[in-house]
Amino acid sequence: MFAVYATHADPENPLAALKIGDRPEPSVPEGWTRVKISHASLNRHDLFTLRGITAHPEGITYPMILGNDAAGTLDDGTPVVIYPMMGSTDWRGDETLDPAWHIPSEFIPGTFADYAVVPKRNAIPLPSNLSPLHASVLGTAWLTAYRALFTKSSLRAGQTVLVQGASGGMATALIQLGRAAGFEVWATSRTEEGRANAKALGARECFPSNEPLPRKVTTVIDSVGSASWAHSMSSLARGGTLVTVGGTTGFDVPVNLLPVIADQLTITGSIMGTLEDMKNMMNLIAQTGIKPEIGAVLPMERAEEAFRAMWDGRTRGKTAFTR
Ligand SMILES: NC(=O)c1ccc[n+]([C@@H]2O[C@H](COP(=O)([O-])OP(=O)(O)OC[C@H]3O[C@@H](n4cnc5c(N)ncnc54)[C@H](OP(=O)(O)O)[C@@H]3O)[C@@H](O)[C@H]2O)c1
Repeated sequence: MFAVYATHADPENPLAALKIGDRPEPSVPEGWTRVKISHASLNRHDLFTLRGITAHPEGITYPMILGNDAAGTLDDGTPVVIYPMMGSTDWRGDETLDPAWHIPSEFIPGTFADYAVVPKRNAIPLPSNLSPLHASVLGTAWLTAYRALFTKSSLRAGQTVLVQGASGGMATALIQLGRAAGFEVWATSRTEEGRANAKALGARECFPSNEPLPRKVTTVIDSVGSASWAHSMSSLARGGTLVTVGGTTGFDVPVNLLPVIADQLTITGSIMGTLEDMKNMMNLIAQTGIKPEIGAVLPMERAEEAFRAMWDGRTRGKTAFTR
């Protein structure tokens, strides 16, 4: 079948490991189902896979079909969106705490292909008010944004949240969801265009990256990593919370314990979200009429252009593929 895949890991030149061609169609184990992909979306995670960066000590076995997220149809024609978190069959409770958790393109083939095969519970029937295009961007970045805002931060309506790196897929999700929930959203971006877009999506205030803020904030959500860490820490009010969700610019950061102790700061990580989070987020999107920000829609055959734009830092919101 048609597939977009990584042939190997190339830490410095990930585009050299990207191939568009044929891969065998995955078999369907008992309790799993086949999804014919109609729409899929790109995540920074796909670049990490090409670079060999993974949270799993086992590493990735190449070649590996890329793609975490997608929407499509089951063999009986039912439209579905893929909930990407999977793990042990006997795990009960919060999926993000399952030691065996993984998402498509880590241990099983990803979604940038004609078909993806997932556990039956991971294929969520699509509500009639959600298009497969918009659904296809919700699985990873949006789900993580939802959990970071509503589970991992202790934000209350009216409080201020700072979102670092406003142009990205997760950052635009944070802005749109945060605004819908009644938070005062502030955002940073390296570009004027990124700041203008963040305002159009509902951010109240926008600042150039790493510029000191006019006042400190209750919560910072940071997916940028090394390049924004010091700014995130120094922007927190006493008792504030930093939710760290990504390391686009690197994962190594210095931590000075003194302000953490004296200002009683909370630093917490957050990974993906539960199946319940995914369903609640889909309800929130339906009820508030949010249209997830999609900066580009391309046929999957043109995936390389989209990967290059993300590697060059030129994307806006999510990039979606049609198949
Ligand atoms: N914890 C989780 O479960 C989870 C889930 C999804 C994603 N993530 C992580 O979250 C991060 C963002 O993912 P994403 O898919 O939203 O990525 P993305 O769409 O590529 O967005 C990254 C954003 O970071 C900002 N940025 C700042 N410095 C940058 C630099 N030197 N190069 C490139 N971008 C830079 C940019 O915003 P401006 O141009 O506006 O400055 C850019 O738009 C990634 O590290 C990803 O792995 C984690």
